[in-house]
Amino acid sequence: MGVYNKHLRPSLHTLALSDRVTGAVRDRVCTGLTGDVLEIGYGSGLNQPHLPTSVKAVWAIEPSATALGLGEGRRSASAVPVVVAGDDAQSLPFPDERFDAALCTWVLCGVPDPGAALAEVARVLKPGATLHFVEHGLAPDPAVVRWQRRSNAINRVVAGCVLDNDVRSLLDASPLTVTEMNEHYEKGAPKAAAFMYEGRATARRQRPVARRDGTGAAVVHPAPAVRPGGRHLAPEIPGMARIAAPEDLTRSGRHTEPEWSRELHDPRRDEVDAFDWLGFAQY
Ligand SMILES: C[S@@+](CC[C@H](N)C(=O)[O-])C[C@H]1O[C@@H](n2cnc3c(N)ncnc32)[C@H](O)[C@@H]1O
Repeated sequence: MGVYNKHLRPSLHTLALSDRVTGAVRDRVCTGLTGDVLEIGYGSGLNQPHLPTSVKAVWAIEPSATALGLGEGRRSASAVPVVVAGDDAQSLPFPDERFDAALCTWVLCGVPDPGAALAEVARVLKPGATLHFVEHGLAPDPAVVRWQRRSNAINRVVAGCVLDNDVRSLLDASPLTVTEMNEHYEKGAPKAAAFMYEGRATARRQRPVARRDGTGAAVVHPAPAVRPGGRHLAPEIPGMARIAAPEDLTRSGRHTEPEWSRELHDPRRDEVDAFDWLGFAQY
């Protein structure tokens, strides 16, 4: 399963979510993105060609080195610089109120604690900044929901995600405020995976923010110190990865993955045996 999770699943995602199928949705979701943008679950960079020129740079959070590799061409062809900055949306290596916007396309269904990911996104967005999202999830029709629940187990193994993610409730329970929501069945997709939640959610001012560190103890991050110059250079916060500065983008002049960031791609995440994770005893 390690080989499947590590190498084949990212290709499957890239194929299933290719531009031909999702291009129009990506256009809609990316409209209005501006400034420094956080993208969680960056995958193979399929949103890259859809970014408006108002985007200055993308800070990508993605655990799969294979997916990042598949996106190399799209990054090189794009005018928007990309910094691969971390590997887990549930614990973001950024100070509070760092980003002008955030982007999340078909990601929360595969994140073990999507509520934690949304809380992190809210924390690092500037007050009033917006998360642009599209997610598949819980359908409104009981018959479809039954299929979603029946297929969840196999879908976790094959696609690495659940089908009945209650996206609306997750957003409502998060520190974000939903400002736009379009819920619909996407034509052409199997119905169990076709119910989409597409929209925008805005961050509120919310400091200090309590987070859980690796030991489970509650921690409060101090407000980030303002550093003169180096707009992209975040203050060092103990226990957090350093955010790359433009000077780190040396390889192609714009798109590179800093050494420290490569270390973040801990392959253990991809080596998890899907059957173990699935916990067949529960089904
Ligand atoms: C279905 S793919 C979508 C990729 C991309 N957003 C797109 O629209 O093509 C979901 C992505 O989320 C990533 N992912 C899974 N768990 C994650 C986590 N905890 N934090 C950030 N990304 C995660 C996966 O590796 C995968 O690349």
